[in-house]
Order: sequence, then structure tokens, then C-alpha cells
Amino acid sequence: MAHGVLRWLRAAVTGKRTVPLPPVMLPPLPRPAPRPRPTRSSTLAATPTFNPDAPLPAPVREYQEVFDRRIKMWNGGGLDGAIESYRALTIDLNKQNLLDAYLQLLRNLADPSPTTRIDFHALPQGARPYLLGPYLGTLVGHAYPRLCWQTSAPSKGWLTYIFPGGPADLMTWRQRMPDICAWLGAGWTLGPASANTITLIRRHPLPEIIPFTRLMLKPGSLFLGIETESQSRAWLPFTEMTSGTFIPGASGTGKSNALHIIVQSLLANLSLFEAVYLIDGKDGVAFNRYRNAAPGKVHVLWQDADVWQLMTDLTGLMRRRNEAQREKNIDNATSDFIAVVIDEMATFTAKPSVDAKHPDNKRHAQFVDELTMLARRGRSTGLRLIISAQEPVIEQIPASVRANCLTTLAFRLPMDAHATAVFGQLDSLPADPRRLLRGRALLKDGLSGEVRQVQFPVIRKP
Ligand SMILES: Nc1ncnc2c1ncn2[C@@H]1O[C@H](COP(=O)(O)OP(=O)(O)OP(=O)(O)O)[C@@H](O)[C@H]1O
Ligand SMILES: [Mg+2]
Repeated sequence: MAHGVLRWLRAAVTGKRTVPLPPVMLPPLPRPAPRPRPTRSSTLAATPTFNPDAPLPAPVREYQEVFDRRIKMWNGGGLDGAIESYRALTIDLNKQNLLDAYLQLLRNLADPSPTTRIDFHALPQGARPYLLGPYLGTLVGHAYPRLCWQTSAPSKGWLTYIFPGGPADLMTWRQRMPDICAWLGAGWTLGPASANTITLIRRHPLPEIIPFTRLMLKPGSLFLGIETESQSRAWLPFTEMTSGTFIPGASGTGKSNALHIIVQSLLANLSLFEAVYLIDGKDGVAFNRYRNAAPGKVHVLWQDADVWQLMTDLTGLMRRRNEAQREKNIDNATSDFIAVVIDEMATFTAKPSVDAKHPDNKRHAQFVDELTMLARRGRSTGLRLIISAQEPVIEQIPASVRANCLTTLAFRLPMDAHATAVFGQLDSLPADPRRLLRGRALLKDGLSGEVRQVQFPVIRKP
């Protein structure tokens, strides 16, 4: 190459002729590495793949879950477990969407539309608390109360309802508690309430046997068991008692046990009583234990003649009290009560002789008249009659006496006729009187007519 260049330079200088420039020899370029021939597997690996089993990213999953629930919400189905699901959401927008779907459902139900229909009795149990307002059908200010998703915990038995349209309708809810419990299942009870909220709390069922303790008693009141719904104690102030209280119930349902607990209330409040008469239709067996409880104040009777005489004496006493009250312009007693407790009234209702002309029958008729008069007029003069019988029929308690025993504590009455004779309609009661458990009773307030179910504790024999 050096030679060629020199020759070219000489020719160029001498100007003889142009000599073509010798070619420049460049080092060879490195050869690119051979491209591998595509195989079938490498082609697949190179393109992005879709694995239907791969988990979706968390935000997508969350969105999907909310979406699914909202779709199912139109008929209430997506409400089951909605609060738990709501709490587990991490994206605020998803939370808002889920809650909005619930609120929209309530609005649709409040403004009846042909597209939103709920079959309340087909709803899963877990969805029911959300639609309690529409189930009860109680609109307040054109809106149904809604379950508060912030404070409620359905699985833990705590439901708070907000009334967006007006004041909380506590009265209606209290009256409809039996219906609410039947629909929601298990024992719900009214908890704390405010101007625009009502809370329901789920209670564990009461134990079959509750032992009696004196702590259950209250000054100035008769203790009448534990309310099964609220599980609070039921008391009836002596001043608010009607003159007669009737305790019917089939044999072995718990009447005598209840009477012993009633006697405990009387003994604990003896200062309010002038006298307590315990009359035992089973020959003094049950009440004998109180013979020496308070000599001179507590009397135990079982003989017909003694009982008849007592009614005559009390009738005279009531007349005298009436006169004294008239002079003082008082029409209610607040102390010096007289309690007459009769277990197994049937013993004293039966006529002493089948011979209609027997003199004892005449005396017995006088006894029934006096007892009726006491039951009718005893309230204002401080007489408190408490009478038990197995059946609410005239063979066991004279109709005139029963008609004046406005307060009723009914233990199980298995026969339809007896249950309806005491309560009339049975559907609206908190429990069916024909199927009450042992020791349970329906307590009908003689003044307000309100009926509650109570369970009596068991008192041990001394
Ligand atoms: N509150 C109660 N809870 C659980 N068991 C009770 C309760 N009251 C009574 N019992 C049970 O039922 C039995 C019968 O009760 P009790 O003697 O009070 O019935 P009764 O209605 O007076 O029956 P009878 O009409 O035959 O006199 C008791 O021995 C007791 O074991
Ligand atoms: Mg008895």
C-alpha cells in the first residue's frame, strides 16, 4: 500500500496523469452474533400471558366485592354481612359506594316503586337487621330508620338505628318488640335511646333455673320475677297494685313458688303492712313455714271457718277505713296495707255441703259476697288480695271475684279456653300462655293492661 501511495503522490506532483487513490483497507467490522432461531417455547415466553387463576390486585378485588354486593342489594340479599365487609374495605370511595347502595335501597322502599320489592320472610337472617325499619313499616318524616354502620355490630348483638326523618319512635318499637324478636330471631331488647336513635341489644336466654336472692327485692314494691325480654327485674309498687291479683296456672307450673317469693316481698316490707294473712288451700302445708315470721302481724290460716271470719272482719275494717278516708278526703292508701294471699282458691270456692239448705252453705255464700266486695273496693283502702287457682273457671274462683282481680300473673294454661278466658286474643301476647315454660308467667298490669313475660326465680325450702 505504501508503494501505491508514493506513486500516486509522484504522479500528482509531476502532473502526469491522475492516479486513482489506492483503496483504504479498513479493519473488518465485528460480525453480529447469530440470532437464535425462534423456537415454539421461546415465542410464548416473549408475549405477555393471562393466568385466570392468578389473584387479582387488592384494589381490584375490593372494587369487585363492592360491585357484587351492590348488585345483590336490590332485594336485600347483599346486606348479609355488609357491615363487616364495609369495615374491611381500605378505599374510602368503595366504602362510600357500599353505604350509598344501602341508603338508596331504604329510599326506594320508603317511596314505593314497582322495582324494589322485599320478601321480608325470605331474607337471610344476617340481612334482616338492616331492613328492620321497612319491615316494621314505620316511616318517620317519610324516611325509614337506618342501621348505623359506624356503631352497630350485628354479630355481637348490638344494633343502633338512626332516624333521619324525625324523632326516634320509641313507643312503637317498645310495643312491637315481640314482633321484632320473632323476625330478627333470639331475644333482642331495647337498649339506650336518644332523640333520634334506638339501640337493640341481644340478650342470652335466661337460665332455666334462677336462684332467688333477697337482693332481688325492693322497698315499697312487690317483686314479680325477671322480665324475659329485658332481663330486668319486674316490680309492682304496693301503691300501684289493684286490689286483686289473680294467679292462674296448671298444676306444677310454679304458682306456689311464685307465692313464696311474693311473701318474701311482703316480709321485707312489713313496716308498710298492718297485717299479712297467708291462706293455704292445701291444709296449711305450704305457708306453715311463716307461722312465726312476725307474730301478731303475719297470720297463717287454712280452716274454712277462720277464712270466712277473716273476710267478715276485713269487710268491717274496710268500711271503717272508707269512712275515715272520706273525712280526710283521701282516696288512696300509701301505708298500713293489708295483704291476703290465698293459695289454691278452689278449696274455698267449693260449697261446703251438697245439701243446698245446709247452714254452712249460707255462711259460704256470705264469704263469697264479702270477698267480692273486698276485691271490688279494697284498692283505695289498702287491701291487697293475691289469689291462685289452677284454672280460671267459676268452680275454682267466683266470677265476681275474678272480675275484680285486674292484675293477672298467668302461669301455663294448656287449655285454649282457659288461655282465651284470661287474655282474649292470644296473637298479640309476648308469649303463648299455653306453652309457657315452668316458672314463667305472663304478667298483665291491672292498670295499664300491658302484658310482659316474667320468669320467677326458685326459692329453696328452708
Ligand atoms: N320458677 C321456677 N323455675 C324452675 N322450676 C320451678 C319454678 N317454680 C317451680 N318450679 C318447679 O316446679 C315444681 C312445682 O312448683 P309449684 O309447687 O310452685 O307449682 P304449682 O303451680 O304450685 O303446682 P300445684 O298447682 O300442683 O300446687 C317445683 O317443685 C319446682 O321444682
Ligand atoms: Mg301449688
